[in-house]
Amino acid sequence: MLLNTPPMGWNSWNTFGGSISDSLIRETAQAMRDKGYLAAGYNYIVIDDCWSLRERGADGRLVPDPEKFPHGMKALADYVHSLGFKFGMYSCAGVQTCAGYPASFDHEYIDAETFAAWGVDYLKYDFCNFPASADGRTRYATMSMALKATGRDILLAACNWGTDAPWDWMKSLGAGMYRSTGDIQDNFKSFTGIARSQLAHFACSGPSCFNDIDMLTIGMYGKGNVALGDKPTDAEYVTQFALWCLLGAPLMIGGDVRNMPPFAEKLLLNGRFLRINQDPECRVPQPVYQGRIINNEYDPETGTWWREYPDSGLTLFKHMAGNTFAVGYFNFAPKAGEVQFIFAEAGLPWGSGYGLRFTDALTGEELGVHRDYFHQRVDGHACRVLLAELVRA
Ligand code: GLA
Repeated sequence: MLLNTPPMGWNSWNTFGGSISDSLIRETAQAMRDKGYLAAGYNYIVIDDCWSLRERGADGRLVPDPEKFPHGMKALADYVHSLGFKFGMYSCAGVQTCAGYPASFDHEYIDAETFAAWGVDYLKYDFCNFPASADGRTRYATMSMALKATGRDILLAACNWGTDAPWDWMKSLGAGMYRSTGDIQDNFKSFTGIARSQLAHFACSGPSCFNDIDMLTIGMYGKGNVALGDKPTDAEYVTQFALWCLLGAPLMIGGDVRNMPPFAEKLLLNGRFLRINQDPECRVPQPVYQGRIINNEYDPETGTWWREYPDSGLTLFKHMAGNTFAVGYFNFAPKAGEVQFIFAEAGLPWGSGYGLRFTDALTGEELGVHRDYFHQRVDGHACRVLLAELVRA
């Protein structure tokens, strides 16, 4: 299968951790189909850690926990497939998974065979409990070859959290995506931090192998398995989605799609944002502004009108297919301020005779044609995302 655009889907970990079951996965698949997620492109359903028994079977194979998965994995995969989804599972390159279940070190070929027999289409492959004497690269290569040897088309979703700069080599091993960062937590500092840490490494992300900055937390609002720190606001979740979409990162929903709060659901299904993420050219955005945010609102506590937040403004400009572009204005500071976009930075100098016609990606509002510059005042911990078209002006 040619992986042309970033994979999209759902993963059980962020909300459910070890509390997973056959019925949860079935209900999730139904909700994803009925609520329009599948039609929007979210077509992978992935079971993360904690699905097996604590010991392998007498035949050396991994055994699904019969209490959680009483019908076995093949039946569940068949069901997920019957609704039109692809089916994902989880293992780990170490001797145990992160949650302490048996993992695939020295069992790569037998486990790949088992996954293929169950009808797995996607394997998230973690890195916990990895022997210090072993070589990570070789073991990811081993699982990649083991999956190929099954003859089934199984996407290898490597997950070594950025160890040894996988953006330089994971693609060469045959992986379809690779986690480049530590685990996301459901707070603004965590998710903006992991996205910004990868800005310099996304150039190597594209068709056939995508840089994965972890599952989304949109709609979790401080509940679930990765809640820590301040519960995000709606605007903070827009920032999360904007970063993942502009960077072209895989979009794996981590919230509970059966009960997604309306704002979050509408955001995850926003066609203009998804078009940016799934743009067929898969270009990495250029930073056209990276600098300070100045807040000039009166602060009664200090009696000042001026506060400067260094390195808190970011404008990303992304070339997309045809005559279209996307611009993301980010304010990572806690207070409002102007985020700049001077068109010359993107190759449209004053006097070029051209301007940009903008549409707000969140609302669809048309913003007219602008020349030379188009700065935005953006609230603290918020962003604005615009679609643009190049026109004579
Ligand atoms: C690691 C991964 C997470 C998740 C857990 C499961 O921490 O990075 O995404 O899979 O393991 O235990």
